[in-house]
Amino acid sequence: ALSIAPLLKETGKVTYDPGFMNTANTKSAITFIDGDEGILRYRGYAIEDLAENSTFMDVAYLLINGELPTAEQSESWETNILRHNMVHEDLKSFFAGFPRDAHPMPVLSSAVSALSTFYADSLDPFDEDQVHISTVRLLAKLPVLASYAFKKSLGQPMMYPHNDLNYVENFLRLCFGVPAEEYEIDPDMVKALDLLLMLHADHEQNCSTSTVRLVGTAHANMFASVSAGINALYGPLHGGANEAVLNMLRSIQAEGIKPEDFMEKVKNKEDGVRLMGFGHRVYKNYDPRAKIIKKTATDILSKVGGNDELLEIAQRLEEKALADDYFVERKLYPNVDFYTGVIYKAMGFPEKMFTVLFALGRLPGWIAQWREMIEDPATKIGRPRQVYTGHDLRTVKG
Ligand code: ACO
Repeated sequence: ALSIAPLLKETGKVTYDPGFMNTANTKSAITFIDGDEGILRYRGYAIEDLAENSTFMDVAYLLINGELPTAEQSESWETNILRHNMVHEDLKSFFAGFPRDAHPMPVLSSAVSALSTFYADSLDPFDEDQVHISTVRLLAKLPVLASYAFKKSLGQPMMYPHNDLNYVENFLRLCFGVPAEEYEIDPDMVKALDLLLMLHADHEQNCSTSTVRLVGTAHANMFASVSAGINALYGPLHGGANEAVLNMLRSIQAEGIKPEDFMEKVKNKEDGVRLMGFGHRVYKNYDPRAKIIKKTATDILSKVGGNDELLEIAQRLEEKALADDYFVERKLYPNVDFYTGVIYKAMGFPEKMFTVLFALGRLPGWIAQWREMIEDPATKIGRPRQVYTGHDLRTVKG
């Protein structure tokens, strides 16, 4: 039986909208997207403008506080965040319990969830000071926790942050540095990573952000809500796509398949194969972030070296897709993830870390959206309804 009767009785109308294709869950003043035109703006600033003239830390400030910081505000914002980047030593022992080959995303979400236990006295979502300190702590500690997850997978000792380095430099050293050895900062890598984090910083009501908000509507604290967001981002159709893109490019390379032949497989939907890194729920045009990243991919690969053949395969697939009716009719264009994997790989990150880097970038957006949700008097606990498709009344005795 397909039953909408209880809903109809209560409300007189029913919205059945799988995937929320046409349902706005909230009003928001943070991010504007026009998917048909390929426009993305944070707090009114075009992503291209920010990419050219701002930094990840300033964009985090912008998303969370609503305005770009002055030079002074920018400096004290970053300094304050860096001051909070030590992680309680006891939290380190959590990492020992996970299998060595554990994927760093569930490790990271567990560690973030555990932060609630370390700061149990400052989790009140309605206390401004507590929300502020949670914001700073989360921004400060996520890169450190992410690097712990990385070091754990390598079997290497974890590093302590060095606060004469900035946010992104610190993170790179935490990941690639080794205790008692000098870590040489590569400014090209810092610049590229800063840009990639910024481009991922918010994307309005995507799956993980909606998750953060939904969990938060139950007044779950910021750590708990963001931990849930990390788990949503772990899904291959969301944050896992850049990992999937690289695996796809690798297998095309290893098996020596021609991009044209691969395209045929995709178009015939053989074994459900999709062109990973293509298509987007909102963008029915070139993803503006993908445009910026494509240029960075070429630049960074020429500077730090990398697998040029993978980039070439990616470029050929893109070229073919953009000229193919299948993709044109369905408005499938490269999304943000199409080129990020190739760049992360060139930086030295293994595939498993790609989604972690996405989480690091998305964090300011999650925090900004969680805070907007908490501050909005219209917020109600998220509780969707359903269309019942099960049995009519039946009895145990038949
Ligand atoms: N390759 C081939 N065909 C595709 C692709 C693709 N990447 N994406 C969509 N299609 C086809 C579908 O088969 C479908 O065709 P049909 O009408 O013949 O059945 C049509 O395009 C519409 O696809 P939907 O799945 O209905 O589109 P939806 O908006 O639900 O999905 C999504 C969007 C999940 C991103 C999808 O395009 C996809 O799976 N892409 C590959 C994974 C990916 O790159 N994800 C990253 C998203 S960006 C992010 O999370 C940051």
